[in-house]
Amino acid sequence: MSQEENPMDVFTAVLTRRSAKRLVGPAPGDEEFRYLLQTAATAPDHGVLRPWRWILVRGQGLHTVVDGLAEEDPAVPRQQLVDKVVRAPLKAMLVFRPRVGHRVPEWEQLAAASAMTHALLLLLHARGYAAIWRTGRLCTSRTLPGTLGLADGERLLGALDIGSPDPASGPQRRRSPVDVTDHVATLV
Ligand SMILES: Cc1cc2nc3c(=O)[nH]c(=O)nc-3n(C[C@H](O)[C@H](O)[C@H](O)COP(=O)(O)O)c2cc1C
Repeated sequence: MSQEENPMDVFTAVLTRRSAKRLVGPAPGDEEFRYLLQTAATAPDHGVLRPWRWILVRGQGLHTVVDGLAEEDPAVPRQQLVDKVVRAPLKAMLVFRPRVGHRVPEWEQLAAASAMTHALLLLLHARGYAAIWRTGRLCTSRTLPGTLGLADGERLLGALDIGSPDPASGPQRRRSPVDVTDHVATLV
């Protein structure tokens, strides 16, 4: 589907996107994910460093992640890990790989990764998919970086659980814009 065939305007996309805890199939395939990422990657990025990459985990890969987490923390019931990890058809792991010592400080590179991720969430939503950004155990695990083959200096910023909206969850209502009175000032 081209962008022209997908006419959701940006206000509608922003106000109707909701993070979805319950996801069903389908999720975008690797090619469609790349297609959306090509656009999300145009988000503001000082120095155009693109200091991030995604690792798409699906199917048996999700169980490999569970295996690693279970080995790391045998006290946690395996089913609890399965429930957490295998609840989405696609887990897109967000890897941050800052350029150390670059004139663009690390916090700006992190901001660029966040901007790209929000753009991707909006594009997924505009395309009819649902997603949620999750962190938690994914970011503290000692074994997951090895399971995913992260290089030195790379770290996980969590994952987007991606799928389609669960029809049982009902339609998402359009949100109202937020009262930002206390969040903006003017200096003239
Ligand atoms: C960096 C980041 C990490 C997050 N981690 C989690 C998480 O681990 N678990 C969770 O339930 N929500 C997490 N959230 C919040 C959800 O992604 C989502 O923003 C929140 O549920 C509000 O829903 P909304 O996007 O529909 O407003 C995180 C959000 C961000 C930006």
